[in-house]
Amino acid sequence: RERRMQWWHQARFGMFIHWGLYSTLGRHEWAMEEEGIPVAEYEKQAWAFKPQPNAARAWAQLAKRAGMKYMVMTTKHHEGFCNFDTQTTNYNAAKTGPGRDLVREYLAAARAEGLRAGLYFSLMDWHHPDGARCMTDEAARRRFVDYVHAQVRELCTNYGQLDVLWYDVNWPLTAEGWESAAMNKMVRQLQPDIILNNRSGIPEDFDTPEQEIRASRNRNWEVCMTMNDSWGYQSADNNWKTPQTVLRNLITCVRDGGNYLLNIGPTADGSIPPDSVRILTEVGQWIDRNGATVLSSDACQPRSSEFLTFTRRGKTLYAHVYYWPGVSLSIGGLQTKVLSAKFAATGTPVRCDQDEFRLRLTGLPAAPPDHPLTTFALECADVPTQNNDKTRIERPRRGVGI
Ligand code: GLC
Repeated sequence: RERRMQWWHQARFGMFIHWGLYSTLGRHEWAMEEEGIPVAEYEKQAWAFKPQPNAARAWAQLAKRAGMKYMVMTTKHHEGFCNFDTQTTNYNAAKTGPGRDLVREYLAAARAEGLRAGLYFSLMDWHHPDGARCMTDEAARRRFVDYVHAQVRELCTNYGQLDVLWYDVNWPLTAEGWESAAMNKMVRQLQPDIILNNRSGIPEDFDTPEQEIRASRNRNWEVCMTMNDSWGYQSADNNWKTPQTVLRNLITCVRDGGNYLLNIGPTADGSIPPDSVRILTEVGQWIDRNGATVLSSDACQPRSSEFLTFTRRGKTLYAHVYYWPGVSLSIGGLQTKVLSAKFAATGTPVRCDQDEFRLRLTGLPAAPPDHPLTTFALECADVPTQNNDKTRIERPRRGVGI
């Protein structure tokens, strides 16, 4: 596992792509269920889905510009429509509106940019006749599990090397019902280096906290998150995160030893919502200047601060300042001697002095020199640690007599 997952740990930052028939509606990928749309009515969207050729190229180029190292695209979401060509159903991209295999196009695009590529696959299926009755009807379960395993087999056979298989929602069965152990064994036989997530009901290689940064203990983890509130394209959703929020989230994941998988929801023609392009472009420009401080770091103990976040690489501590304090900046509780300080983006040295309780950086510009975060690199005499309790308890309580 360690060998298989080495690239994934170094990668840190990935792009999630939710794309399917729901993109033609533009009302979130749960529209079919949440609006109670009949199957026969929803199916018509398969003919309305007419993406421009090779739309995925622009996604891959944006991912690369944003500093992302891998991508994961929906091959089949809960709606049951397959973005790939398959023998198992005609409800697929090759035989309907798109007229071609969109998974193949996506994989070619990712590989052309040198990115690792994974496939998302929903176990839950709102379209298949046995997708719900498999819960109580054994013959239906048999048919449906065979159907799902056959699709997973096709995905693992027809596209060369895959890097990640990202299962989703395993309603209404358990891992036993899905025969997940056998399914994942088959996957590993076909794709020996693949990395599997935990949503087939078996823990496998990594945990998948969703929309919140929650580190797992002694387990690999990847936070998946939307850039607004929706995974699939939702035309009315303008609740965009700022580039600073995205970077703070990435930095927090990295600090705590996890990955960050950030979503785009392309429109039906495959174009990326302009706000997503804007946000990821700004994130990428910051990563161009400061990327080494985030993308190749070790888990980091110092963390206590309400105006900056830390990452660490070896004995270098990076302080990512999001609320700029002005001409001087102080950090309490560092237990390690700081030998020198500089701006990470430019290498410009910064004056620093330190006593037992406080590190001070002085002579700083009044306004933050970088945007959306300014990062300092602090060379330490040892692997840095922080202890704010010590400051609270031991700082001499000797004032001027007030
Ligand atoms: C949820 C949602 C889904 C989304 C996924 C991403 O399980 O059902 O729409 O694809 O999370 O993690």
